[in-house]
Amino acid sequence: MKLFTKISPMKKWVKNQKRDGKMIGFVPTMGYLHEGHLSLIEKAKKENDVVILSIFVNPLQFGKGEDFELYPKDFERDFVLAKETGIDAVFYPENEEMYPTEMSATIVVHEGTNVLCGAKRPNHFDGVATVVLKLFHIMDPDRAYFGLKDAQQVAVIKRMVQDFHMDIEIVPCPTLRERDGLAKSSRNVNLTKEERKEAPSIFQVLQETKDFITTKGSTSSQEVEEFLRSSLSKKINGKVDYGEVLSFPQLKKQDFLSGEIIIAVAVKYSKARLIDNIIISV
Ligand code: PAJ
Repeated sequence: MKLFTKISPMKKWVKNQKRDGKMIGFVPTMGYLHEGHLSLIEKAKKENDVVILSIFVNPLQFGKGEDFELYPKDFERDFVLAKETGIDAVFYPENEEMYPTEMSATIVVHEGTNVLCGAKRPNHFDGVATVVLKLFHIMDPDRAYFGLKDAQQVAVIKRMVQDFHMDIEIVPCPTLRERDGLAKSSRNVNLTKEERKEAPSIFQVLQETKDFITTKGSTSSQEVEEFLRSSLSKKINGKVDYGEVLSFPQLKKQDFLSGEIIIAVAVKYSKARLIDNIIISV
């Protein structure tokens, strides 16, 4: 497995792979790898000739007072895990390599950001889209793999690829969970013992809300969101950042739910903000 920390040799390697007719699968991450990340890598390996993993904690997507400084890092462990998967290359740049000067132009995401994390984390998706665009220019991938745990991210990146006529297939991948239902996340290590005990309730509430829609047959958004929020307030001591039900991938409010919908929740604990969602057909 090749390790690149500089953009220029990374690009040269990609060019050589392309010249040899290889299909490139790309998995962008911020590291501190867990099975969720590894599931994306596994899928990418099955569908492409070569797979590149990037590890970069992108400062541009963290707001003031968010957990950029606290974001867990362990490159040596990540490197071993990546090597075990049998992928071809890891890109692990320093901040100065990705942002040698202040950006003179960045992406501003207009659609689908007035809800969920977009509404609560101003400019977060501008930062995500900007770094993903930079990474796409470096890797020139045929396919890129994103987890549906970050469903709004998937929607935003899909739209960006469409808007900029990029020939990259965005492959959404299912959310991997702990045995107790908690969505796997690098941030879970920043939960206290009590918070970790409580956190599986987030997924339980999502499932109860799904049942409320499917078995009770309730499709009024207002009724469903009331159920979702009152269930959260009963089970969660963390600060509920949002509990919303929207169309997916459009991320629009509906009076009455129909088609593909997302039930999404964010909870702020002392040192970690957790998000989770389920997507269902109504
Ligand atoms: P990060 O949070 O490291 O996640 C990298 C990828 O792994 C994302 O596509 C995310 O949705 C996926 N992922 C995380 N937890 C998952 C889980 N439990 N099951 C399945 N997939 C999961 O998302 C980012 O990094 C960044 O925003 C990035 C796209 C790298 C841009 O900086």
